[in-house]
Amino acid sequence: MLGRLNHVGVATPSLAEAVETYKRLFGATVISDVIELPERGVRVQFVDTPNSQVELLEPMGENSPIAAFLEANPRGGQHHLCFEVEEINAAKADMEAKGAKVVSGPYIGAHGTPVIFVHPKDVHGVLIELMETPRH
Ligand code: CO
Repeated sequence: MLGRLNHVGVATPSLAEAVETYKRLFGATVISDVIELPERGVRVQFVDTPNSQVELLEPMGENSPIAAFLEANPRGGQHHLCFEVEEINAAKADMEAKGAKVVSGPYIGAHGTPVIFVHPKDVHGVLIELMETPRH
């Protein structure tokens, strides 16, 4: 059931500054373009690592879901972990059958595949994104 760790989500007030830090401190070279997801209230940029990605999230618009997170953590911080799953509707039904609260989704995420989010109260304080494994 539990698939590969696809990415770690990191909220930041500035994508540009965060990208500069990953370049300067860690020598990051493979960095995606900025992806705007206005219906989700975020701008996203991916920093590739050999085995995973860091998903940098900057708030976009008034009702951004990460605005409250940044109010509590003004410099930004780790926001969620994303694991791959085979099939998103089965994963959602499985979470609900096991009593975990699915807070959003399924909807199409930044990788173009459907995702859901599981409430941190059910996962020891960690917001979990489950994402259908990309087919390509
Ligand atoms: Co994510």
